Amino acid sequence: MEMRICLLAGDGIGPEIMEQGVRVLETVAGKFGHDMEFTDALIGGAAIDKTGDPLPQETVEACKAAHAVLLGAVGGPRWDNLTGAERPEAGLLGIRKALGLFANLRPAKLFPELASACFLRPDIVANGIDVMVVRELTGGIYFGTPAGEETRDGLRTAFNTMVYNEEEVRRIARVAFEAARKRSGRVCSVDKANVLAVSRLWREIVTATHADEFPDVELSHMYVDNAAMQLVRDPSQFDVIVTGNLFGDILSDEASVITGSIGMLPSASLGAGGPGLFEPIHGSAPDIAGQNKANPLATILSTAMMLRHSFGLEKEAEAVEGAVQQVLKAGYRTGDIMDQGGTLVGCNTMGNLVNERI
Ligand code: IPM
Ligand code: MG
Repeated sequence: MEMRICLLAGDGIGPEIMEQGVRVLETVAGKFGHDMEFTDALIGGAAIDKTGDPLPQETVEACKAAHAVLLGAVGGPRWDNLTGAERPEAGLLGIRKALGLFANLRPAKLFPELASACFLRPDIVANGIDVMVVRELTGGIYFGTPAGEETRDGLRTAFNTMVYNEEEVRRIARVAFEAARKRSGRVCSVDKANVLAVSRLWREIVTATHADEFPDVELSHMYVDNAAMQLVRDPSQFDVIVTGNLFGDILSDEASVITGSIGMLPSASLGAGGPGLFEPIHGSAPDIAGQNKANPLATILSTAMMLRHSFGLEKEAEAVEGAVQQVLKAGYRTGDIMDQGGTLVGCNTMGNLVNERI
């Protein structure tokens, strides 16, 4: 299979984790006889430094010309004085929008090998954690207008708009129901319908889509404050969580960190067609950037999601996931998942260990 992959390394630990992700893809290509072609493009702070723009048009074109995009991370203290559309994060939001990536899949699964790194009580962990957060990614309060700042009654006043239309809700609900059919068949839709008009529409449309198209799936609804609490109280009650952009941002961090480390979790951002984008859900970790300390496993697991979702290569995806599991079983750990009796390794060595096992 011919595969063109665009690499957006970005900032902080982005370049070092990207290097390990690419090596894994190269190993897969060699072992399974695929033809992979890589192109690099600039995003985030790195793009600001070179071009003054967090998302140069060239980058958008390079992504559109590819079959899939692998992203490292964006942002850092160096660009913290910038505002709004000038910030590195605007590059990430911009590429999601430009590629129409409305569905963000964020699986949070507890590796049994990392149970001792989990933050929850052992009796809670014993029930297992296997949650898929399906986050709407190109709408909601992240993109709603009007947004900005002005003076009202002599006071600086800032505002954003949370907005969804029925079609935006319907299409993300479908993604969630379809994902649930391949899992335990349960969807929990998270909103704030007791307060927000946008959530009331959300709940109505999710309910109708369920009744019309997915009656075989079990649907429940939960307010976001309760969901945040239930996730730590008993995560095993959840299978698929579907929610809007902002709530999904928050709940996916929570779901991931209870599994032991945010450094473990991959994500896939998919649209109606065109290339998907795959990225670890963690940030650019500027405090450990360039020190060979970062955990590359979230990026490596993101390449597995790419192989599966963009190229339909299930066997290859499982080979990568299996290799990661073996490395963990053998006791190798980066600092973020270090436990008693583990062997501490750096980013590069962790990449080697996975590669050797593919
Ligand atoms: C994420 C990140 C981004 C988001 C930031 C960096 C803009 O937190 O991918 O979850 O809020 O979507
Ligand atoms: Mg986030």
